[in-house]
Amino acid sequence: MEKLWSKIKIGNLELPHRLVMAPMTRSRAQEDGTPGELSALYYSQRASMGLLISEGTQPSDDGQGYLNSPGIYTDKQIKGWKKITDAVHGAGGYMFIQLMHVGRMSHPENTPHHRQPVAPSAIAPGLEMFTAKGMQEIPVPRALSEEDIQTTILDFRKAAAAAIEAGADGVEIHGANGYLINQFFGVNSNQRTDNYGGSIENRVRFAIEVTKAIVEEIGAEKTGFRISPGTPLGGIDEGEQSHELYLHLVKELSQFNLAYLHVMHLGNETLLREIRSIWSNPLLVNRAGRAREDISIDIENGIADMIPVGVWSLANPDLVERLKQDAPFNEVDGTTLYAGTGSAGYTDYPTMNEIESQHK
Ligand SMILES: Cc1cc2nc3c(=O)[nH]c(=O)nc-3n(C[C@H](O)[C@H](O)[C@H](O)COP(=O)(O)O)c2cc1C
Repeated sequence: MEKLWSKIKIGNLELPHRLVMAPMTRSRAQEDGTPGELSALYYSQRASMGLLISEGTQPSDDGQGYLNSPGIYTDKQIKGWKKITDAVHGAGGYMFIQLMHVGRMSHPENTPHHRQPVAPSAIAPGLEMFTAKGMQEIPVPRALSEEDIQTTILDFRKAAAAAIEAGADGVEIHGANGYLINQFFGVNSNQRTDNYGGSIENRVRFAIEVTKAIVEEIGAEKTGFRISPGTPLGGIDEGEQSHELYLHLVKELSQFNLAYLHVMHLGNETLLREIRSIWSNPLLVNRAGRAREDISIDIENGIADMIPVGVWSLANPDLVERLKQDAPFNEVDGTTLYAGTGSAGYTDYPTMNEIESQHK
C-alpha cells in the first residue's frame, strides 16, 4: 500500500495521500437547501481524507430531486457552506463541492418551486422516489428548450462561482449516476433532434458546454468531472455506442486540463484502461464493492492516481489512520445513510481513540 501514502498534486492543491472522500448525499440540509448545522462537524471530522468531495449539491431549484439536499445558489446557502469549508480547512483538509443537477430524477413534492422536473426529453425514468408523502412514481419531465439549456449552463456557472465564494477549493461536475448530464448521454433518455441529441458528439455537447462555462468562471485547476460509464442508474441506457461516447467525452474533457477525472467504475476494464491512456491528468477511480485489501490495487497497477472511498469514510472518520494501523473498521448503519436528525449515523461514528477511551 506504499503508493497510497505518497503525495499528489490536484490542481494547485498538495494532497498528503491518494485517498479521497467520495461524494455522498446525506439528506440532512434544511428545507431551503442550507446545509444542516452538523455538516461542518461531519466533514471536518473526516478532514484527514485530504480531499473531500461534498454530497451532491443543486445549482438551482430545478436541480433538486431529493428531500433535504443542499443547494449552492442563495446567499444563505453560501454562508452555510462557508462554515463547512472553514471547518474543513481548519482541520487540514480540502473540499470540492459536487454540483449535481438531477434532471428527471426528481419529484415536485421535493423541490422548493414544486414544478415538473426537467430533462433532455419528456421521458420518465420509470422509477419511484422517496418524498415527504412516502414513495411515489417519478413523473414525466418537461423537455428543456434550447433556451432552457443555456439557462441551465448559466446556473452551473453561477453555482461554481458561489462554491468558490463559499470557500470551496473547487467543484466536481456530476456527470454520473443517471442525473441530468448523464441523461443527455442516454439513448432512452435523450431523443432530441437538435444539437443536443442523436450523434455521440451531440449527446456529450451539454457536458462539454457546462465544463467550458465552469472552467471559464473558476479555472480548470478547480474543476473536476465525474462519470459512471455504462451504469444503468436512473434508468439510463447509453446504447451500443456507450464505449465510443465515453472515449469521445474524455478526449474532449482532456483539452480543458481539468484538476481531475473521477470514474465511478462498475465493470468495463477495457474502457477504464483506454480512458487511462488518453487522460494524463489525475484519474480518480471509485470501485464499488472492492475488498479492503484491494484498496490500492488500481494505484499499484497504474490505472488510478487516487482512490475515492464512500461508505468506509462515512462510517470511519479516522479511516486513514485505521488503514495505516490495519485496525478494524466501524460498521456502517444503513438505516441512517440518507436521513435522520441529530448526530445519529452522521457525526457519532467514533474514532479509534474515542472507542479506546470509552473502554478505559
Ligand atoms: C449514502 C450514499 C450517498 C451517495 N451520494 C452520492 C452523490 O451525491 N453523488 C455521487 O456522485 N455519488 C454518490 N454516491 C456514490 C458514492 O460516491 C460511491 O460511488 C459509492 O458509494 C461506491 O463507493 P464505496 O463502495 O466506496 O462506498 C453515494 C453513495 C452512498 C452510499
